[in-house]
Amino acid sequence: MEKEIWKPGNLLYPLPAVLVTVADREGRTNIITVAWTGTVCTNPPMTYISVRPERYSYHMLRETGEFVLNLTTEALAYATDFCGVRSGKDCDKFKELGLSRDISEQVSVPGIKESPVSIECRVREVKELGSHHMFLADVLAVRVDKSYMDREGRFDLAKAKPLVYSHGGYYGQGKLLGTFGFSVRRKKEGQRRRRPGGKGPRKQGQGKR
Ligand SMILES: Cc1cc2nc3c(=O)[nH]c(=O)nc-3n(C[C@H](O)[C@H](O)[C@H](O)COP(=O)(O)O)c2cc1C
Repeated sequence: MEKEIWKPGNLLYPLPAVLVTVADREGRTNIITVAWTGTVCTNPPMTYISVRPERYSYHMLRETGEFVLNLTTEALAYATDFCGVRSGKDCDKFKELGLSRDISEQVSVPGIKESPVSIECRVREVKELGSHHMFLADVLAVRVDKSYMDREGRFDLAKAKPLVYSHGGYYGQGKLLGTFGFSVRRKKEGQRRRRPGGKGPRKQGQGKR
């Protein structure tokens, strides 16, 4: 496989594109689509969003120091794009899209009812990196839609059909290829283990942890 060398840039895809809800001191709310986001620490639970200072949402983030990350779904694909190309300076995105505000547990900023998961965050530090300022935040609460719980009380995110953003395109998440640790998990008696590349079963004893 021959590769071309490109100038430094970001080509880390796929990513989640999330709907971030923000509010100002007077309680005016807005939604901004953000793809520069991720988990940075499990314990304490921490996340970040990177936002350009010229975004209308930026001053709201600075004012309250709070935001909610609302996960997106295939059903929210239109809203995700809309909130990423229209400014709250010119329109009320909640109203335009028929989305409903959901009262949050720990922060003053509302979440989005139509999102399956709303992650309530408080900014700990702002890193002025360059084009984007990174809002490093603590996760204070996570609200999940009960309709995606299975009978055993497990949350089934796949059922919500999460949205994936990759190199300018929106996609569904695709088919399940395995679950965490499947590469080393012992198979039940009689089932044959396949090696990467589909080269057939391993010899006995190979692949033990
Ligand atoms: C898929 C997608 C991802 C985006 N990710 C970011 C991002 O990570 N940071 C950012 O500052 N803007 C990002 N944007 C652009 C903003 O969402 C866009 O400028 C938006 O209109 C700003 O809204 P506001 O003016 O109401 O704050 C993204 C847009 C799209 C469509």
